[in-house]
Amino acid sequence: MVYRRAMTSPSAAPKPLTSRRPAGPLSGVCTVPGDKSISHRALMFAALAVGETRIKGLLEGEDVLRTAAAMRALGACVARDGADWLVAGRGVGGLAEPEDVLDMGNSGTAARLLAGVLAAHPFLSVMTGDASLRRRPMRRVTDLLALGGATFLAREGGRLPLAIQGPREPLPLAVTTPVPSAQVKSALLLFGLHAPGATVVEENEATRDHTEAMLRHFGARVAVEEVGAGRRITLAGQPELRARDVAVPGDPSSAAFPLVAALLVPGSHVTIRDLGLNPLRTGLLTTLLEMGAAITLANRREAGGEVVGDLVVAHGALRGVDVPYERAPSMIDEYPVLAVAAACATGTTRMRGLAELRVKESDRLAATAELLTANGAQVRIEGDDLVVHGTGRPPAGGGMVATHMDHRLAMSALVLGLATDAPVAVDDTGFIDTSFPGFVALMNRLAGETPALVAA
Ligand code: S3P
Repeated sequence: MVYRRAMTSPSAAPKPLTSRRPAGPLSGVCTVPGDKSISHRALMFAALAVGETRIKGLLEGEDVLRTAAAMRALGACVARDGADWLVAGRGVGGLAEPEDVLDMGNSGTAARLLAGVLAAHPFLSVMTGDASLRRRPMRRVTDLLALGGATFLAREGGRLPLAIQGPREPLPLAVTTPVPSAQVKSALLLFGLHAPGATVVEENEATRDHTEAMLRHFGARVAVEEVGAGRRITLAGQPELRARDVAVPGDPSSAAFPLVAALLVPGSHVTIRDLGLNPLRTGLLTTLLEMGAAITLANRREAGGEVVGDLVVAHGALRGVDVPYERAPSMIDEYPVLAVAAACATGTTRMRGLAELRVKESDRLAATAELLTANGAQVRIEGDDLVVHGTGRPPAGGGMVATHMDHRLAMSALVLGLATDAPVAVDDTGFIDTSFPGFVALMNRLAGETPALVAA
């Protein structure tokens, strides 16, 4: 069956929402939608493989649907089959020139990873995105991909829309990533797949390694060496990737929201099942445990090259901690919701080295500080650090939060409103669907009979 859901623009009409303290504790057992990072990669690798790949648990969020549409526009056959997705791939180097501009919506991961794929094909392609994505830097990938022979035309500052012309014969790369970014690393490896010989990508700090795991899963040869705090990845180019089924675990970055909510709402007890727990994604868990959170891991297992398990979380007092900058890559998307937890903790939490937050879906460093300030918390930005002073009680709430087209800010604000005396209002929750369709329904289910998240 072809999947025909119309792709809506989350920005179409603002969807304001208010969250208020639930009548009782949050409780229940739940799952969260599939991992966004793994879902994008599963679709791309399946399209580059020979044969038919079945993907279970794909995140059907707007971001991933953009990748699905792009792979289809490039000649792969991508269709929904019951609850699964089926992709018939074209083989490495076998994608076809797209007839039209590829619109990647709100998704930096889709745009950056796909840039690596497109730059390796000898045709012209053009990518664009929504107002948030069109503001985000692309030169971090295009400058390095140009070394492999691709040419790019972009707007001022290397921003989308971006035109890409790949070379007839892509050259293997030997590069160090300029920032700790799994998106940049992955774009380079996806390009390297198409070049003869070995592509070597070095990163000074280890970032999430789903691309490396997926490359192996589909049959490529990848060697990873530890180099100080970073890694050197060597990929043998031009392999024949073979279709392999993929089971996408729950997204730990999405689980962060019900997890922190359960920590903050008195009496709560929540189990989140079947979560991806890749060690390069668990910085939030490490930090919350240091803050004194009652979180236990159950049913730990391995599936498709990824660690998976269940988390059991109970409400309890939290204390402020110092979060070292080296931890940032392993929890880069979780700082807004960690800042919410920190605002309800006792003492100061300093989150170090957050420069990368400035170039996410919004300037998340500034917007997280705004979110907390608007609700009565004490917070300041010092250089690249975010410093939150908690009094041991949730801040007053009552603020209106501007979400700046950023799903994670919207969800963080709504989690805060579950703990504050006065409700927290959010100007637009439409973007939540980019990563966590069903978020509002899930939180209301955990809250019991009276919904805690309601239309403003
Ligand atoms: C992602 C990597 C991260 C993260 C993003 C998803 C990925 O970005 O913020 O949501 O799937 O590779 P950077 O690697 O650029 O930090």
